[in-house]
Amino acid sequence: MTDTRALLNRISAFRQRLEQMPRLLPDRSSLRSELPEYPVAESAPDEKPEVPGRLGTRARQALDEARGLVTELRKLTQHALLDSPQPFIEREELLEHHRETTALLNGAIRMIRYLPEPPDEQWLWCESLEASLNAVRYRLAVWKACLDRLGSERLLLHNVAVLLNDIHHTQTIEPDRFSALVDLFLQESTSTSLTWLEVSSEDPASFIARHTILRCRVLRRMASKQDPEFLRKLLAAGLLCDVAMLRLPAGLLSKSDSLSVEDRQLIESHPLRSAEMIRKSLPYLTEVAEIVTEHHERDNGTGYPNSWKKEQLKAESRWLAIADQYSALIEDRPYRPGCDPRTAVTDLLLQMEQGIFDSRLASALLEIGLYPIGSAVELSDGSLAVVLGHPRIENQLAKPLIGVLTDDEGRFYPTLKILDLISSPGCSIVRTLPKAERRKKLSRQHLDWAL
Ligand SMILES: [Fe+2]
Repeated sequence: MTDTRALLNRISAFRQRLEQMPRLLPDRSSLRSELPEYPVAESAPDEKPEVPGRLGTRARQALDEARGLVTELRKLTQHALLDSPQPFIEREELLEHHRETTALLNGAIRMIRYLPEPPDEQWLWCESLEASLNAVRYRLAVWKACLDRLGSERLLLHNVAVLLNDIHHTQTIEPDRFSALVDLFLQESTSTSLTWLEVSSEDPASFIARHTILRCRVLRRMASKQDPEFLRKLLAAGLLCDVAMLRLPAGLLSKSDSLSVEDRQLIESHPLRSAEMIRKSLPYLTEVAEIVTEHHERDNGTGYPNSWKKEQLKAESRWLAIADQYSALIEDRPYRPGCDPRTAVTDLLLQMEQGIFDSRLASALLEIGLYPIGSAVELSDGSLAVVLGHPRIENQLAKPLIGVLTDDEGRFYPTLKILDLISSPGCSIVRTLPKAERRKKLSRQHLDWAL
């Protein structure tokens, strides 16, 4: 079975499970129902092609290619992810990309239909025809890669949400099931994008699962050079520390105005309640439960629930506190947008200096980078780029390896221009694009970097 088939089967099983769990996700219409009807069908060359009777070799090859692309386009619209009842934040971008690809393929097919009869005259047209078909092939590959990636991310989100929900319902979690989830994070590469799905805060299980996934990815990057057992413990605590948030009153997580004293008390009770839930559902994780109790404590005693100081805190809790705070800062919340990663790191370094967090973990925090791999950034001349790799010199944190997407007037290059900012003194990064702006600016040309 191919990887793609296995993924589709898992997504399909995921969909069926979602349908059985109305509490986790709201019922929505599928994205597939919004895809345009195929104008390609009216001229579909896979049945009775209305093409010139005498096609030359090159035009005939283009026709075969167009037929293959029509089949591929149709197959992709059957992608299981498009039937997901979960709302798509990326809906407009996916639809727009699909519409444009369909239009491009239609244009190419029409061109074949209206080729002049003599084959030697067809050659004049074949070059632009082939360029269009190449563009369609590339766009379909990008669309498929995006759907596959979104599918994997949703599957992970689902698995984490179900785990948390099962603990919420006091089910016993078998050790193998739990370690399989920890293993997933351990196996993820730390040199890929620090991604997280956008979900609605009105869907508590997904909202908490999303924060959980991001926190584990941050921990994975921060502690990648640590002892594997230490890292496993961190990830276990990172997966479970907010499980009691599921027991908060409905609406509290999506509240956009200031919290009342009672709201705050409820929220601040979650470390103790999470630890209690872990002891019931995962009794073999005694030490993890203790770490979870302390994940909102601060070195200077300003945290909760016990206001303990650094001497009283476990080393793991101090790592977890930083990863949790970093993740919270960069995520959007109902009451404020997420800040950019550079600001989050700077903020945490400042708090380390003030004795709020463990300053010995500064270098671990900087493992994430000021501009994490995969970030979309604006350069000093106004052009847009994506971060492809960490800086090759350690103390040059603001100068990663980038791929420039546009010129200074926003015109896209046909391919990425690779640039090492350390060797480009006149060029620097001025900001990271927030997620919504990134989707808006990049999705037409680079859907894969936009989502
Ligand atoms: Fe928490």
